[in-house]
Parts: sequence; C-alpha cells; structure tokens
Amino acid sequence: MLHFILNDQTIQTGLAGGTTLLDFIRYHRHLHGTKIGCREGDCGACTVLVGELQGDTVRYRTMTSCLTPLVNIRHKHVVTVEGINPPVFQGMAGHAQSSDQLALTPVQEAMVAENATQCGFCTPGFVMSLTSFCLSGQGHLPGQAVAAIDGNICRCTGYKSIERAAGRIAGLMQNRGIQTPAVFAVEKGIVPHYFLEISARLKAMQAAGTTDPAAEPTVVLLGGGTDLYVQRPEEMTHTPANALFYRPALRQIREEGDFIEIGGASTVTDLLESPLMQACFPALNEHLKLVSSTPIRNMATVAGNLANASPIGDLSIWFLALDAALELRNGPLNRQIPLRDFFLGYKTLAKSADEVATSIRFKKPGKAHFFNFEKVSKRTFLDIASVNSALLLQVENDMIKEAGLAIGGVAPVPLFLKKTSAFLIGKTLPAGDPMENDLLHEANTLLQSEISPISDVRGSAAYKRLLARQLFFAHFMKL
Ligand SMILES: Cc1cc2nc3c(=O)[nH]c(=O)nc-3n(C[C@H](O)[C@H](O)[C@H](O)COP(=O)(O)OP(=O)(O)OC[C@H]3O[C@@H](n4cnc5c(N)ncnc54)[C@H](O)[C@@H]3O)c2cc1C
Ligand code: FES
Ligand code: FES
Repeated sequence: MLHFILNDQTIQTGLAGGTTLLDFIRYHRHLHGTKIGCREGDCGACTVLVGELQGDTVRYRTMTSCLTPLVNIRHKHVVTVEGINPPVFQGMAGHAQSSDQLALTPVQEAMVAENATQCGFCTPGFVMSLTSFCLSGQGHLPGQAVAAIDGNICRCTGYKSIERAAGRIAGLMQNRGIQTPAVFAVEKGIVPHYFLEISARLKAMQAAGTTDPAAEPTVVLLGGGTDLYVQRPEEMTHTPANALFYRPALRQIREEGDFIEIGGASTVTDLLESPLMQACFPALNEHLKLVSSTPIRNMATVAGNLANASPIGDLSIWFLALDAALELRNGPLNRQIPLRDFFLGYKTLAKSADEVATSIRFKKPGKAHFFNFEKVSKRTFLDIASVNSALLLQVENDMIKEAGLAIGGVAPVPLFLKKTSAFLIGKTLPAGDPMENDLLHEANTLLQSEISPISDVRGSAAYKRLLARQLFFAHFMKL
C-alpha cells in the first residue's frame, strides 16, 4: 500500500508503484485539470507540486506527473490545480466544480489580467509552476518568476503576456517580509488554509509506517524516472522498482576534508541549492540552468544521469572533468571506481545491474583551479546537448599543473580526453586571444584525433567536430 496526500485528501492505494502520477490523478481521481501533452517531460502541461517534509516545514517542488511513478511520492503531498483554490468552492471529493464557481488565486488572477491564456490547455501547468515559485520563497524578481516557468510550453498565447503575469506575481512576493513562504501564501490566498496542516499530517503518516516498497523484490533501480519513463513507459508501470529517490542516505551533499561527496539520489536542483557546490563553482547557476528545465531538474538525479550512460549526459561530462570517483554498493559489498573507467562502450557500464551508485566524490577545486562547462544544443534551454564539454585546470605561476577535459556527443560514451588533457599539463597558460594561440591549436589537433562523432539528429559529424573545437577554445576564452 502506498500512502500520500493528494490536495486535501489522504490517499491509500494498492496500485502498482510504477503507475504514473498523471494516470492516477486523471484516471483514478478524475482530476482533469492536469493535462496530458507530450508524456515525455517536455511540455509541462502535467506539472504538479510535490511537497516533501523538511523538519517542521514542507518544501514544494514542481514535477512532471507524466514521468513520476507513484512509488516516488510515497508520504508526500501532491498538489494539482484543483488543490489550490479556496476549499469552500471545492466539491466534497476534491473534484473541482465548474470554473465560474471558483475563486481565483492571485496567480490565476494575474494570468487573466494579462490575457496570458487562450485555449487554456497549458494554463494549469503554468499556474502550478508560478504557485511553486511563490511557495519556494526563493525570489521576488520578474526574472526569477519567469525562470520558474522554464519547463512550460504554450502553443497559442504569446509568451510576453505570460511573462507579464509572472512579473505581477513577482511583485506580490516582494511584500513577503519575514513571513515563512507557506504562511504568506495562505494569507494572500495563493494556496488554501489546509496547506498549514500538511506538515503534521505527513509526520503522522510517516510515524504510522507502511510497507517499505524497497523490501519487495525489485527488477530495476529507479531514480527520478526522467529517463526510464521516457524510454520504456509501459514496461515501467508493472516493473517492481528499487525506488532510490528521496532516500535520505543518498541525498546528502557533504564536505569530507578536501573532498565533496554527493549522494547518488541528489537531484540537479539539490546541487544548485547546495551552499557547498555554490562555493566551489561560482558559475554553478549559469551552468546547471542549461540542464533540462526546473521540473526535470527537481527529479533528475546525479546517479541516474551517470547510469543512463548517455554520451551527452551533462553531469557525466561535468564529473569526468573533475576526475570524480563513484561509489557502488550491492548489499554489503562496496567499491569505488574512477568515473573515467566507468563508461565502457555505448550504454555499457563497468557495473552490474544490481549495483547502486550511492555517491560520487571529487576533490574540491581550490583557488588555483579553473572550471568551466559549455553546452551547445538546438535550443539554449530545455534541450539535450549536440556537444557539451567541461574543463578543469590547476594553474600555478601560469603553469598548467593539472588538466581534465571531457566532451560529450562526439563518441559512443561521455568522453574524457586523456591525451589532450595530458598534453596541456606542464604548458604555460596561454595569454592573449586563444584563437591566435599555437599551443591551443596543437591541442585541438590532438583533441580531434581523440573524438569520433557520428552524424545524427543532433548534427553532422563535421558539425560536431567544429563544435568540439569551438567549445575547447570557449573554455580558454572564459578562463
Ligand atoms: C525533458 C527532459 C529534458 C532532459 N534534459 C537533459 C539535459 O539537459 N541534460 C541531461 O544530461 N539530461 C537530460 N535529460 C535526461 C535525464 O533527465 C537525466 O539523465 C537524469 O539525470 C536521469 O536521472 P533520473 O534519476 O531521472 O534517472 P532514472 O530515469 O530514474 O534512471 C536512469 C538510469 O539510471 C539508473 N539508475 C538510477 N539511479 C541509480 C542509482 N542510484 N544507481 C545505479 N543506477 C541508477 C536506472 O536504472 C536507469 O537505468 C532530460 C530528460 C527529460 C525528460
Ligand atoms: S505531458 Fe508533457 S511534460 Fe508531462
Ligand atoms: S493557451 Fe493554448 S497552449 Fe497555451
């Protein structure tokens, strides 16, 4: 049995844990405000909020319900668009009544005031993302509110009107003062009063204890599901999964001496919000905002990115450059493997199917280190890379002491460029325009000999070679 709260209702269900939250919401609870668009995490029409207990408060993040299995929302609070209007206007079973009987929330009012909705298909998704922005308490600037809707696509209303609505909502958040986001949101009618009781209800649910899904025999390791539910959605519904998402032991990001250790189930958002990561990587936000969209970043785990073995996995490239080591565990057995030895061939890894990637560990970059990440995709945001690259350099007195260069999209695996990295070590850091530098051109010749791109939908082999060259020079321009 799985227990969670859906809007104001406590849910107990014996459905397969692999059932998507979207199907549960629409077909089992008949809450049709949450829409089905792409079923691939791309359009945001199915966006819901998922609230997780954090001490005495509940932290809400957006997720695409089409890629979220029920097993991942165990003991969580799920909020659909029907759950944000004042309860006095809701039907007894949580079914929203017709729109003329509903009081609009300030988020919905802003959408109406700015004519930010036309056919209305995408609107619940936008409303949920903007409601999440209000509940996060993490901003009050128009740009921040617009960033919250980076996973929502609208096909018929001009984005400018949606941006203006986001701007209005940002203005509302400027008045929050020292109030907690949830109390402020309730006071302003952004969410109903029942939100203030969710923390106690989730605590009671956890304390009551229910069958641990991990105790069941499992077939697949499941992180956020953003890869598995795109690749094999039907099969995943009935495949017993070892649900690793939300496992506290796999979510920590901590410092251990000179090293940073990141739990395998940490999400991209966890990395973005980690003060440790922010201190190590000044451009963290700029770089990781190039990874998918807010709802996907809220679900996509570090281990899932590495283990799905995509040649263009952004985090694979990032951690290859850092020379990170992966910890793998199978029951009581535990081992570490350098990430640079992990990718054996196309979608082939140096690990058994049962081995769980519990953490990744890398040496903290110091003052003498430079790190940069570059990515080129067809769209700047919400797209996977044609080619991506990361470079770590340690420089002392203008001499390169250590170099780690990784490039994705140019080989069957995310590629660490062993020869080019070794070539750079011991060289003087180029001064002046990198494009005019003979040493870097020599390095690029070596780089080109290490890669073997193929032509596909992301670009021709020649184009990818050009991109690899450009990104290599771009690193030095940035640094
Ligand atoms: C709309 C969209 C946009 C995307 N954009 C990007 C992008 O810009 N950049 C990018 O790199 N990726 C992108 N992705 C791909 C995907 O989101 C990432 O690769 C993500 O990190 C996968 O993590 P997950 O936890 O969701 O993996 P899951 O789907 O849960 O699992 C993926 C694989 O990893 C295995 N696995 C999961 N956790 C573990 C573990 N702890 N130990 C061992 N094996 C494990 C699973 O068995 C499975 O084989 C995108 C996906 C979508 C749907
Ligand atoms: S239906 Fe498009 S993101 Fe879920
Ligand atoms: S209002 Fe029609 S898709 Fe956005």
